[in-house]
Amino acid sequence: MTRVITYGTYDMLHYGHIRLLERAKSLGDYLIVGVTSDDFDKARGKINVQQSLMERVEAVRITGIADEIIIEEYEGQKIEDIRRLDIDIFTVGSDWEGHFDYLKEYCKVIYLSRTHGVSSTAIRSSRRVLTMGLVGDKIDFLTRFLNESKFVNGLHVCGICSNQKNTLPESLRTLSVVTDEYDCLLEHVDSVYLISSPVNHYEQIRKALEKGIHVLCESPIVTDPVQYDELLRIAKENNCILSEAIRTAYSTAYSRLLLMLKSGKIGKVVSVDATCTAIRDIADDAEAKWNSINEWGPTAMLPVFQILGCKYVTKQIVSNIVNEKLKWDAFTKIDFVYADAVASIKVGKGVKSEGELIVSGTEGYIYVPAPWWKTDYFEVRYENSVNNQRYFYQLDGEGIRYELVAFSKAVETGQDAGYISAGVSREFSRILNDYENGRITLIC
Ligand code: CTP
Repeated sequence: MTRVITYGTYDMLHYGHIRLLERAKSLGDYLIVGVTSDDFDKARGKINVQQSLMERVEAVRITGIADEIIIEEYEGQKIEDIRRLDIDIFTVGSDWEGHFDYLKEYCKVIYLSRTHGVSSTAIRSSRRVLTMGLVGDKIDFLTRFLNESKFVNGLHVCGICSNQKNTLPESLRTLSVVTDEYDCLLEHVDSVYLISSPVNHYEQIRKALEKGIHVLCESPIVTDPVQYDELLRIAKENNCILSEAIRTAYSTAYSRLLLMLKSGKIGKVVSVDATCTAIRDIADDAEAKWNSINEWGPTAMLPVFQILGCKYVTKQIVSNIVNEKLKWDAFTKIDFVYADAVASIKVGKGVKSEGELIVSGTEGYIYVPAPWWKTDYFEVRYENSVNNQRYFYQLDGEGIRYELVAFSKAVETGQDAGYISAGVSREFSRILNDYENGRITLIC
């Protein structure tokens, strides 16, 4: 019996896939199809896959062509599969010509001609394109954001609204709409990404949502829970997505870390400690409105609320405010006390510290080295260090592209993917409101 194996993503299964599977099957008597896992696709740069692994496996199964389906999870798995499954022929489409010649040591390798004129990429791109306008003055970041957006199928950044419209770099200056009038931008887009001054967020978000325009907003969305609730209501009424843009929430390593904690990997969590600092010059006008607590508070609080929930018993905010007028804190520390756990965050643009995240449990702890908010690696450590484990997950483009994929998917399905729940966003706004209203302890 000749055993054949082939691999693919099989996203939005199409005629080209079916023809390939049929020809692969006819090469032998038994066909095994390897479907790539979501993580493996992400790691090899395929970030736009629309269907989940389950959906893709089901689509292949329904064709009735495969005798067996396996999941491809890691680089180098093919050799192991070929040996383990006693494979005679490995085959893929001719777009991979030469790429798998190294497998000839283990079995016969056949490249089948690819069907012309159809691909998952083309099908994904043919869906309605979501246009996006950028809003803000953090030009370096917006340039990076624009570059990252190019990795996302079905999303097109077509405009910018900035006070610095006359001094933009070429990539931003040549967008179709370049303006310093927000209303003008809104006339041309389906969605906006806001990295504007937090004091403008409420008005800008409300205007967009009322026009049926989806919003991805850099934290903090607003610094008042009443305003947050109102915006959420307007979003619902207009069938719009309002998403908080904290890149960390979309990184694979951070998501895996949360799942591990939920599965009891370090026992019961008793403490979460997160630090985020980056020294910046208050004299910089664009930076001035972004004090330490606004810029870093939500990121640092993210693991606290996502691990321990938002129902703490007490909290204390301690700040070192160096400019009263701008409410600019050199650093802020917040301690949370829960019924059965504690947490603390330390954020600062006027101090430097180790930007690490430590989650302590009754059986061990998770250590994420600095800068933890760009997590691609973490360690699970135990009393007996021989049991320690290290985890690495690829993080491309600081997570911006994953954030954009999640946002455009949410717009398409009409459902927020839940990376950052409304409850967590609301709690951020409550804490920042306490800060703004002086419910804090000051130190000099
Ligand atoms: N394939 C094919 N003809 C096509 C498209 C795909 O023969 N028109 C083959 C590929 O060569 C591969 C298998 O189908 O052996 C699964 O390919 P996959 O990468 O899942 O499909 P694509 O449509 O190429 O996906 P993408 O556009 O995301 O690269």
